[in-house]
Amino acid sequence: MRSLVEVVDAATIARRVAELGAAITADYQDKEPVLLGILNGAVPFLADLSRHVPPEAEIDFLSLTRFGEEGRVNISVDSATSIAGRHVIVVEDIVDTGLTLSYLHGLLATRRPASLATATLIDKVTRRIVDVDLRYRGFEVGDEFLLGYGLDWNGRYRNLPSLWAVLDLATFQDDPDSLARQVFAGAG
Ligand code: IMP
Repeated sequence: MRSLVEVVDAATIARRVAELGAAITADYQDKEPVLLGILNGAVPFLADLSRHVPPEAEIDFLSLTRFGEEGRVNISVDSATSIAGRHVIVVEDIVDTGLTLSYLHGLLATRRPASLATATLIDKVTRRIVDVDLRYRGFEVGDEFLLGYGLDWNGRYRNLPSLWAVLDLATFQDDPDSLARQVFAGAG
């Protein structure tokens, strides 16, 4: 059995991202939303999504650091945009336990945005610990570890154009170059 499998190809991602952009466009007419990407994982998704929303939308980013237990987060690099009174859409690569997003929503809510919604490319819904409202979701997945299109392993593989599942994490960790070989051999 192969331990690395391409689970969503680039064309399927592109189609789904366009659908999410169309839904956001319909929901945010005349609202000039701020798309707030969470670094580093949201970069490919936000770049593609931004091309399917109206040009009035603003784009900004922030970076989080985790501390302590239970997945608590601090904002380590803040966005430059003032979100008070703005319609904010947090853009995430993946929501797993939901802890990151729920702490982040708490932090952002203190800044009094006019509204706060979330768009995530991937929803690992079966792993949820805290309930979070995901208004825009690209793909619902199981609990496999995923790589590509923003998702990393030790900082690697964010730049793959498609999504891959690591079915055998121990084997992959012994030979993390195996995915690069598989991708560049065109053996998707
Ligand atoms: P949370 O559990 O919802 O707080 O998600 C925390 C973070 O875990 C995400 O933002 C990702 O950085 C990371 N993560 C969760 N699942 C995966 C995965 O399958 N691949 C890569 N990163 C993941």
